[in-house]
Amino acid sequence: MQKSPWWQHSVIYEIYPRSFQDSNGDGIGDLNGIVARLDYLVKLGVDAVWISPIYPSPMADFGYDVADYCGIDPIFGTMDDFKHLLAEVHSRGLRMILDFVPNHTSDYHPWFIESRSSRMNPKRDWYLWRDQPSNWLSNFGGSAWEFDETTRQYYLHSFLKQQPDLNWRNPDVKAAMFDALRFWLGLGVDGFRVDVMWLMIKDDQFRDNPPNPGYRLGQPSNNRLLPVYSSDRPEVHQLVAAMRAVVDEFPDRVLIGEIYLPVQQLMTYYGAGLKGANLPFNFQLLQCAWSAEAVAQVITGYEGALPIGAWPNWVLGNHDQPRMATRVGPSQARVAAMLLLTLPGTLTMYYGEELGMTNVPIAPEQVQDPAEKNEPGLGQGRDPERTPMPWDDSHCAGFTAASPWLPIGDDYASLNVEALEQNQDSILHLYRRLIGLRRSHPTLVKAKLDVVTADSGVLRFQRVGEEHFLVLLNMSHNPVQVEIGQGTILVCTYLDREAQQVKDSLHLRAAEGVVIQLDQSTEKLL
Ligand code: GLC
Repeated sequence: MQKSPWWQHSVIYEIYPRSFQDSNGDGIGDLNGIVARLDYLVKLGVDAVWISPIYPSPMADFGYDVADYCGIDPIFGTMDDFKHLLAEVHSRGLRMILDFVPNHTSDYHPWFIESRSSRMNPKRDWYLWRDQPSNWLSNFGGSAWEFDETTRQYYLHSFLKQQPDLNWRNPDVKAAMFDALRFWLGLGVDGFRVDVMWLMIKDDQFRDNPPNPGYRLGQPSNNRLLPVYSSDRPEVHQLVAAMRAVVDEFPDRVLIGEIYLPVQQLMTYYGAGLKGANLPFNFQLLQCAWSAEAVAQVITGYEGALPIGAWPNWVLGNHDQPRMATRVGPSQARVAAMLLLTLPGTLTMYYGEELGMTNVPIAPEQVQDPAEKNEPGLGQGRDPERTPMPWDDSHCAGFTAASPWLPIGDDYASLNVEALEQNQDSILHLYRRLIGLRRSHPTLVKAKLDVVTADSGVLRFQRVGEEHFLVLLNMSHNPVQVEIGQGTILVCTYLDREAQQVKDSLHLRAAEGVVIQLDQSTEKLL
């Protein structure tokens, strides 16, 4: 039998490098800091790290404004540090996924400096210049077009004006960007998470976007229009397929797309003949209501929409979204962990989720995120979910010896790796246990997901393959009695019922989740 690709059975751990571990005392995390914490990740049991951008950048959007696609920003280290990190990652049997930001560069990228210098410059057409702006809106507020005095034309920026959009219809742009991919693949990087994949190509006529009838005052201003002509254009799929072909020039790599679209549209990013993204990120759990009914619907909707042969994936958090433990509370955060780790396919978690890290309140004078600075008070800010990882209860939580770039959560004296490590019932131990369970039972990774139901606040599903698992997640705050077959509890979110034999009926405490291995003989009862 052919071995399945590594990424199919992986748990991917996103590291926001500024906030993981500082090694040189400047208050900002760096590559050597990550090296120092790799053994922690091995012990946690994850398979791959995805590192948010580490390329040279003026940091207007904290690395998502790239000034050189083939370098390392000195804040994070040197190219040698990067090679060392990659070697250390691989020597531990882990994989490394880099962030690739194709939609836009920094305005300090030499390509843009050339492009804006004159209308006749050979790189003029590498960006999107127009005499007249369309009505398109920036994702960070205001018009998506900026007038440039030097050449008296407007350029497009879907995000900050310091992030001009590249013109992917230009073959030279394609060639240069694909070479950047090859550069990292050649160094041995295992794949890419592609930033805003669904935005890469825009309408070639720049037609105005229609108004959004669902827009309400107080929402971010870019919700005023439906991005019909500025996103998810049909031509994007050719481009994704071309990107995939580049990644496939190297054996055993993965292409992941960041895509915020309704599920039917999301699925098109697997591409014709599954030659698009290996994994279009599935953000459904970040967006749906936290109830058994809503999650059951999301799971069946997603599974039902998957193209034949497409590999599923689930995401619990990232650097743009409020932290799960803040959204659902500490006890449901444990339920969320069990949900994620018993779903099929590739899973992605965000650093600190394994600690139950919450959003950290950011005072106005501490704001770093340009999304918040541009449109304050609309809940757009992403600083709260990007705060430093608390490693211990020492000054600055073992993250840095200096003053950290964002505040550390004031619960860090008790909520830190060292403390949770010592507490055998902690969420950290739960994560480790669940990841370990997944590793030792491939049925949890690849088997069919079956009989998804929601009843009395309990989400229930089965994973049936060589083995037979029943997952029960009490997403309510009330205890409940549920009917079951006969089997053995493998893990419970309270970590206190392991190996308990169960039969017929089970009492679930509030916010209790259990994974039960069913006796084969009871299968027919369910
Ligand atoms: C993506 C990134 C986000 C960034 C934006 C612009 O959504 O995840 O952090 O600000 O793209 O690059």
